[in-house]
Amino acid sequence: MKTLYLVAGARPNFMKIAPLVRALRANGVNLGFKIIHTGQHYDHELSDVFFDELGIPAPDVLLGAGSGSHAQQTAKIMVGFEEVCQKRRPDCAVVVGDVNSTLACSIVAKKLCIPVAHVEAGLRSGDMAMPEEVNRIVTDAISDFLFVTEPSGVRNLLNEGKSAGCIHHVGHVMVDNLLYQRDKLAFTDTATFESSALKLRLGAYGAVTLHRPSNVDSRDALERVGTMLRKVAQRIPLVFPAHPRTRGNLDKFGISLGDRVVLTDPLPYMDFLNLWKDAKFVLTDSGGLQEETTALGVPCITVRENTERPITVEQGTNVVAGTHPEGVRTEAFKILEGRGKPGQRPHLWDGKAAERIVAILARELA
Ligand code: UD1
Repeated sequence: MKTLYLVAGARPNFMKIAPLVRALRANGVNLGFKIIHTGQHYDHELSDVFFDELGIPAPDVLLGAGSGSHAQQTAKIMVGFEEVCQKRRPDCAVVVGDVNSTLACSIVAKKLCIPVAHVEAGLRSGDMAMPEEVNRIVTDAISDFLFVTEPSGVRNLLNEGKSAGCIHHVGHVMVDNLLYQRDKLAFTDTATFESSALKLRLGAYGAVTLHRPSNVDSRDALERVGTMLRKVAQRIPLVFPAHPRTRGNLDKFGISLGDRVVLTDPLPYMDFLNLWKDAKFVLTDSGGLQEETTALGVPCITVRENTERPITVEQGTNVVAGTHPEGVRTEAFKILEGRGKPGQRPHLWDGKAAERIVAILARELA
């Protein structure tokens, strides 16, 4: 039986491998798999909690790479993953998304002549100051199977000279996971969720996540974010589960968001879903949430100058509002006044992307 290595390292990877695991475990699928956790994220609330909740089996291998500069982190993951591949060579390395673990493991596998499958290929922001953009471009350049979520991805890859035969527009594994978890949430007792208490206390609210280095790593940027959130919160309270780096920088720079912004620790997947699915809007710089909000029809304001996920704007509920407080405030108030933009769920975001990927890999690796 052929064996896949499913690589996951950071929070947004875990929801993408969960549906792949389910599809690989389905009756009649003749592909084995091992889960390699690089350890890029290691805090319980950014890692273990997702394995428990999303029903992902414990990793077969934990590389324990941890934090560091981009070079240090990428190098540590590469050394660890190379040893694993040399000890027991997989038939294909499956990498997801655009984090440093994605980049590191795709390079290692390719140099060992192991086929690489990239799930969520072809997305481009055109902004080379984003580490994720570099990771996406390099990973796609050397991948053998390119699994794409939206038509812009196919166009980008063809423009970069990839052959049509290796590009597969299959939909989105993250949406597979979202629809699965949403259905599960309907039968889950949410009484103990942090989000339930907040919903009860606040009534109407907006949900916030901001962690891009360009928004939170410098004093200037984070002060701008602070002004933005305080302006929006004049009209509606905001709940902001903050990434540890964002939280650390708020403390370091001594920035207060005011008492209308409720800061929490990062929430587990279901608790966070329970929060944002009923929010008046989501205000974010995350890539994944732009897509998840489009999938469930929740208004989304993206605090960035660009997006690598244009379908969320063309068809979905997403508005790319830039990073100026006034522009973001205008978009938020528009939504609150009932002038937000409606959206629809894109083609193939139907909960079956992982099945399509597994069927293609089973056929091609046979
Ligand atoms: C990474 C991804 C980003 C993704 C984000 C989701 C890259 C280049 N970036 O960013 O695309 O959107 O994950 O969260 O791969 N830290 C902790 N606990 C942890 C992990 C990190 O406190 O478990 C802190 C450390 O101070 C660390 C910092 O966060 O130095 C940055 O972590 P890192 O994994 O390098 O990048 P993220 O900012 O999490």
